Amino acid sequence: MKINNAAVMRGNPNLPADKSISHRAALIASLAEGQTMIENFSASADCASTLACLSELGVTIERSDDRVLIHGVGKAGFRQSAGPLDCGNSGTTMRLLTGILAGQNFDSTLTGDTSLLARPMARIAEPLSKMGASIVTTHGNAPLRIRGSSDLHSIEYRLPVASAQIKSAVLLAGLFAAGVTTVIEPVPTRDHTERMLSWFGTEVIAEGKNSERHISLKGGQKIKASQLRIPTDVSAAAFFMVGAACLPGSDISIRNVGVNPTRTGFISVLQRLGVSIQIVDQTDQCNEPVATLRIQGGIRALQSNGPAIIEGSLVANLIDEIPILAVLGTQLPNGLEVRNASELRHKESDRISSIVKGLGSMGADVKEFDDGFRVSASRLKGAEVDSHDDHRIAMAFAIAGLLAEGETQIQNAECSDISFPGFFQILDRVVM
Ligand code: S3P
Repeated sequence: MKINNAAVMRGNPNLPADKSISHRAALIASLAEGQTMIENFSASADCASTLACLSELGVTIERSDDRVLIHGVGKAGFRQSAGPLDCGNSGTTMRLLTGILAGQNFDSTLTGDTSLLARPMARIAEPLSKMGASIVTTHGNAPLRIRGSSDLHSIEYRLPVASAQIKSAVLLAGLFAAGVTTVIEPVPTRDHTERMLSWFGTEVIAEGKNSERHISLKGGQKIKASQLRIPTDVSAAAFFMVGAACLPGSDISIRNVGVNPTRTGFISVLQRLGVSIQIVDQTDQCNEPVATLRIQGGIRALQSNGPAIIEGSLVANLIDEIPILAVLGTQLPNGLEVRNASELRHKESDRISSIVKGLGSMGADVKEFDDGFRVSASRLKGAEVDSHDDHRIAMAFAIAGLLAEGETQIQNAECSDISFPGFFQILDRVVM
C-alpha cells in the first residue's frame, strides 16, 4: 500500500463495529437459551474466527450484512468439534473461548496462525487449571489441549498481568463453577465482559477495594437471550482522530462511538495535549456508553520540559492505541515516552520493536526500552515499512505516511482486515 503526504482530513467516516464487544456478544449469546440478534456486528477477520469456532461447536449462526442471528444453545449445549478449532490471528477468540471450553464435558484443541501460536497462553491455563480444567499448552503457547469439566470450582484470582482477556476467561469459566468466582484487578482493564453478561441477565458484582477492583459472579446462573447493537470501535476511531489531530485544519466527526471509560485513555491524552475533541450526544446502548466524537486538527501542546509520558495504570487502558500514539509523538514538541508497556511485546507482533523499527526507517529519532520507547519530535520521511502482519502497526504507519514527506510503502498492509476491513478506502475518502 502506498501512502502520500496529506494536507487535512475532513468528513464523517462510517467506522467499523467494536471488535472486543462483538466477540463477547457472539460468545455470550451462544451460551444463552434462545435467539439473539446482534446488529452492527464487526466485519473483522478476528470476529469471523469467533463465529467459525462457535459454528464448529454446534451453534447455528445466520449472518446477513452486519446482522448476526445466534441460536443460543444454553450453557450445556455445545457439542465437541470434529477437529481443532482455528482461532486465526485472534487472541480474544482463543482466550475467551478457552474459559468457556474449560466448563464443557468434552475435549477441545485450539490453534491459530503463526502469530497467535507465538503468544503466551500459560496465563489462562494457570487459573483455569486451578478451577479444575486440564489445559495443556505447547511450551506455554497454543495449540492448547483442553479437557473441560462440568464440575469446575470457583476461585479468587488476582490478575498477575493487567489483561481483560485473562479476566474474561476466568469469569466465563466461573459461569460453570460451583460457588462465587472473583477476579481481582490491581489495574482496571476493559470491562466489556462484565457489561455484556449483565445485559444478558447475569448478575456480576464489581466493587472497588483499596484501589483494586473485585469482580465476582456466581456459577450456575442462566444466560437469557437478548438483542443488541454494537457501538463503533473507539480503537479504530483512534487512527482517524490522531491523523486529524496532527493535520491542522482537519475536522472529523464519528458517530455512535463506544466511549467506555476503560477504553478512552487515549482521548484524555489527546485532550491534555490541547487537541480539540468534543464528545456529544452521549447515551447508553446495551449497557455501553456511546457518543459522537468531533476532532478539530492542531496540537496545542503546553510547553513542558520533557516528553509526554504514558506509564503506570494508564497503559492497560490505551494498550491498543500505543502504535498510533507513537506516531503522534513524532509531532509533539518534546516527543513522547511510553513505559511499563512490556505487554506490547506479546501482541500480534512485538509492537515495541515494530514501532521502533518502522518509525526509525521513516527518519524518526526513537529509542527502544525493554518496557517501551521514547520518540522525539521528528520530521518523517516516506520509506518502506513492514506491518509485521500486525493490523494496528499497518494502520499506524498509514497515518505516519500522511504526515511524511514523499511516499510511504507499507508491506502486507492488507492485514488491517484483522480489525478494520476497508480501512484504506475509508481513509482515502477523508484525506485531502
Ligand atoms: C482485548 C484485550 C487486550 C487488547 C486486545 C483485545 C479484549 O488484550 O490488547 O486487543 O478484547 O479483551 P489483553 O487482555 O491481552 O491485554
